[in-house]
Amino acid sequence: MWGVRRLALAALAGSSALGVALRTGDNATDLTLLSIREAAALIQEGSLRATQLVEAYLARIDTVDERLRSFIYVARDEALAAAAQVDKDIAAGQYRGALHGIPFGIKDLYFSGAIPTTGNSRLDWGNRTDQVAAVITNLEAAGAVLIGKMDTGEFASGTVKLYMDLPHDLAANPWDLDRFAGGSSTGPGAGVGGRTTLLAVGGDTGGSVRLPSAACGVQGLKPTFGRVSNYGAISNTWSRDCAGPIGWNVEDLGYALEAMGGYDVRDSTTVKTAPFKFDPIIPQDLSGRRVGVVNISSTDYAGLQPAMRAGIENVISLLQDNGAEIVPTNLPSKLAEYNTVGSPISNVEFHVSNWDLIMSDPAAVGQGTRDRLSRILETTAVDYGEARKRALEMTSELEELFRDFEVLVLPGTFYTAGLFSKPKEISDFMLKTAMVPASITGHPALSMRAGFDGELPLNFQMIGPLFDEAVLIRYGMFLEPLIDGVGPRRVPKVLG
Ligand SMILES: *[C@@H]1O[C@H](CO)[C@@H](O)[C@H](O)[C@H]1NC(C)=O
Ligand SMILES: *[C@@H]1O[C@H](CO)[C@@H](O)[C@H](O)[C@H]1NC(C)=O
Ligand SMILES: *[C@@H]1O[C@H](CO)[C@@H](O)[C@H](O)[C@H]1NC(C)=O
Repeated sequence: MWGVRRLALAALAGSSALGVALRTGDNATDLTLLSIREAAALIQEGSLRATQLVEAYLARIDTVDERLRSFIYVARDEALAAAAQVDKDIAAGQYRGALHGIPFGIKDLYFSGAIPTTGNSRLDWGNRTDQVAAVITNLEAAGAVLIGKMDTGEFASGTVKLYMDLPHDLAANPWDLDRFAGGSSTGPGAGVGGRTTLLAVGGDTGGSVRLPSAACGVQGLKPTFGRVSNYGAISNTWSRDCAGPIGWNVEDLGYALEAMGGYDVRDSTTVKTAPFKFDPIIPQDLSGRRVGVVNISSTDYAGLQPAMRAGIENVISLLQDNGAEIVPTNLPSKLAEYNTVGSPISNVEFHVSNWDLIMSDPAAVGQGTRDRLSRILETTAVDYGEARKRALEMTSELEELFRDFEVLVLPGTFYTAGLFSKPKEISDFMLKTAMVPASITGHPALSMRAGFDGELPLNFQMIGPLFDEAVLIRYGMFLEPLIDGVGPRRVPKVLG
């Protein structure tokens, strides 16, 4: 049993200083600093209109996004129209819940009907105005307002080598505009860190939600494979692609995942399991709870930056200080083996999904995509079959660990975000990580802030049992205030 505190939406409404400030027209409060629960409480009680909140984000985009480049397309008119409808519905007593009126941006890899989709590619995707990705439909059904399409690597390919040849220039890191924001959900990470959106949706095939979250100092969740529908998404590697939420708070991810997830007959990789229900509860302490922690002194983690190591050690101390029992463990396989198993799978699946389209106009795609496609030449059918077989075994081996503890704590990236001018820093950031194992096995994984090294965010990762995102979110919500400290949200100096 968990001793818990439950956070009610109403806890903030009515008496809140912010609610009073908004009612009296004092606009000193920056609406882009609100969490989903804070904004929802104000929207529900009528002291904040969805239109005001959307306008605040559009104004923020106008002020900073020329430098940040988080959005490929800002759906200004559509967002204002949707927000006006939300305000009408709420005034008529049809309040739908925490996401009603909450602005979100999405990686430009998900088809969005009349709102254009480019996949950050010069390829012609054809006229897909009738196609709307399931994640967008689901979030909109919960009342969330799509404000635009966010920067991505072409076909969601994680950028290891920067060719700078895509139609939309890579988003910058909000904490240092000369640095990489991680990939491939670059815009979602940069946008949440730089507050051009409250909530963002990315896609994670080998770390693409967690890497930009780590680079940009925000929280990102890769759900269990099969939790969220990929209908309407441009495919990278179909046996691993996972849409996942990115937010400033872990709690925001819980609200988002509840709306995003669920079985979808149009995507047979979704699993007919109990839908994820978010219960915003925080454990009182962790006494008697068992947490697995990998050995960060083992050779697998050699090269972990000292500041990153200190950040993770601090998280482990916080767990211990709050009563958790630390169970020393390791991933069942070496990090290198997960990478080896991943390559043939992504080579073949990327090729099968995208070859025809790319060959329709090979000159239109970037060098990164061409590099990627050429890797099919090194992969045989037997390599692919063996890798798929081994991946299934790896899923069982990792799941078995959770007999002994509830969550597994491990590093995310080994390094803070690299400088654009230093190619080695970019490739080290992307490649020297522990992000791939959960992608191979399908397990849910949460990337979280672990403090800062100067202005640069540190990160760590937690993996949970299959389909138990709830336990990750619960640990995340417990640790977050301890890691971040109390007081106002930290904002990037360079953007304000
Ligand atoms: C609110 O902002 C507007 C526009 O920036 C300004 O003209 C107005 O004086 C502000 N109101 C308050 C109460 O600060
Ligand atoms: C896409 O299809 C719609 C509806 O059939 C049509 O109105 C529109 O002109 C088409 N757009 C393009 C770019 O072909
Ligand atoms: C962690 O790995 C290091 C280096 O291999 C080793 O010396 C140490 O004993 C390990 N710690 C645990 C708890 O296994």
